[in-house]
Amino acid sequence: MLSEKMEAALNKQVNWEMYSAYLYLSMSSYLESKGLAGGAHYMKAQAQEEMIHAMKIFDFVNERGGRAVLEAIEAPPSDWDSPLAVFEHAYEHEQHVTKLINGLMDLALEERDHATQIFLQWFVSEQVEEEASASGVVEQLKLAGDKGLFLVDKELGQRPMPIPIPKGGE
Ligand code: FEO
Repeated sequence: MLSEKMEAALNKQVNWEMYSAYLYLSMSSYLESKGLAGGAHYMKAQAQEEMIHAMKIFDFVNERGGRAVLEAIEAPPSDWDSPLAVFEHAYEHEQHVTKLINGLMDLALEERDHATQIFLQWFVSEQVEEEASASGVVEQLKLAGDKGLFLVDKELGQRPMPIPIPKGGE
């Protein structure tokens, strides 16, 4: 059984993950409008991944005797100065999400909630990947400059769409 505090914190994270999906969808739309179909595809895949994260927490809350309660999702920005600014924002956002996940883990440790600690371990590892992917694209874009943008965009278009995680699975 989740404590009320843990339940509320996990519910807040569902909202953050959904906001992340919104943010990346908005970035996808911006990149599409700039003729960068690869980057737009990459961000659509990222948005899908965020919805999977949200569902994973949603299911966990309900499984542990809590109740997932949904709140309004904040509107994301819709404009950026450049494709590079988009990915820099994505990287900053992922660093923020890492802090949120660490905060949830701190709470689970404080409450000696072992099941939630084990559940959150997946997210701790996932955040390492999430930060690395975003900062990797930032580096690529910086190296490529305006002339190489087309090539980076082509590569971003190769990202496979994520497959939903089976309930309770990895
Ligand atoms: Fe759900 Fe990108 O972290």
